[in-house]
Amino acid sequence: MASVLQCMNCGQRYPVSSVIFACEVCNGLLDVTHDLNALRSTVTRQLFDSRLGSLEPPYNSGVWRFKELIYPDVDPALIVSRPEGNTNLYSVPQLAEWAGVDTLFLKHEGENPTGSFKDRGMTGGLTQARALGMKRVACASTGNTSASLAAYAAFAGIEGIVLFQNKHVALGKLSQALAYGATCIAIDADFDRNLQLVREVATEFGIYVLNSVNPFRLEGQKSIMFELLQQLRWQVPDWIVCPGGNLGNSSAFGKALHEAYELGLIDRMPRLAIIQAEGANPLYRSYQNGFERFEPVRADTVATAIKIGNPVNYPKAVRALQWTNGVVEQVSDQEIMEAKALIDARGIGCEPASACSLAGVRKLVDQGVIKRGESVVGILTGHLLKDPDATLGYHRNTLPGIAGTHRNVIHEASPTFDSLAEILSSTVTA
Ligand code: F0G
Repeated sequence: MASVLQCMNCGQRYPVSSVIFACEVCNGLLDVTHDLNALRSTVTRQLFDSRLGSLEPPYNSGVWRFKELIYPDVDPALIVSRPEGNTNLYSVPQLAEWAGVDTLFLKHEGENPTGSFKDRGMTGGLTQARALGMKRVACASTGNTSASLAAYAAFAGIEGIVLFQNKHVALGKLSQALAYGATCIAIDADFDRNLQLVREVATEFGIYVLNSVNPFRLEGQKSIMFELLQQLRWQVPDWIVCPGGNLGNSSAFGKALHEAYELGLIDRMPRLAIIQAEGANPLYRSYQNGFERFEPVRADTVATAIKIGNPVNYPKAVRALQWTNGVVEQVSDQEIMEAKALIDARGIGCEPASACSLAGVRKLVDQGVIKRGESVVGILTGHLLKDPDATLGYHRNTLPGIAGTHRNVIHEASPTFDSLAEILSSTVTA
């Protein structure tokens, strides 16, 4: 059986050629469902390991190396790939110590072609746009999705359209979307409203929506988990920790792990911890009441990437938490910026939202949820250069309400040997 679109609520199926973003019967979210029984005989660790280091498209991509689990039937000639993925997994003992665990790895999705994990989703989304013959693609975005969409649309020769809240998009992301030539529309409304708008205009204007409500995006993002497991030689970590905004990534992680387990690629499930910013925490609030109620919030956080109050993938994130016996935690802007400063100072670096992962590990260890002896992988979602204003603001101590506790201050020197000598004598470490 070929892959189908399937409603996660009522199970209604649609051919993958349908241009729909919700179930036509019950309005539920759609999955791309693969025939796992048919894949069982072909999908093995050995198959994926044999493609490591390949120079041949599409297997040189860290997404399409796992093609059978992403989009098995797609014609390779249609694939739009930069190529993405193949991101590093860093062992970070000093940060592990700070967080209170023995073993911590950080997987850096900021090392993707446009500097965030969104590229893994966009290769899936643009490939499907091309398969469907779409001429225009669009998204609402807090910044990274628009940068990625703009690049991949340009690469595929399709018009890219991005809607964003102009005052709150980080500089690096905005400049990318402009430079890659997307049609950029600044709207004085938050992400949640912009996402509604993009869905409203899509049908009328023949536009293909590439927000994470598009299930082909999430299929691409599943590869973060497959690649991570492969980098760990298929040894399952105890915890995987990631930031949560629109909840596409955590949803994709849940589906990936579920499928990997069903197919026997792994023999147990890791636990997923989704970390939200305190000022944008609707999933955390709902988790606190056992998912009985879900209420959108008006979002505000220094981590503008996850400034989202009404995440569209909420039901899929809850499913991911159920599949993985997962937890949800929240962290303050102060905790986010402090964790970011520490990740940055190790020479790794990330944008504010990504630092939720490390801040979240420390908090969950404090609370006794994560035990010192458990192995943890944190996902860094975006590159340090995405948000230079946040970084400079922190080190200049000008971010409202945030203390620059790990500031790196710029020394002022006059152009003399003595002035330099004074500084260099004071900074030398043993
Ligand atoms: N980290 C970064 C750097 C992001 O850009 C995003 C989302 C997230 C984490 C959260 O991921 O939405 O899948 O839960 N950015 C989106 C955007 C919303 O428009 O770029 P999520």
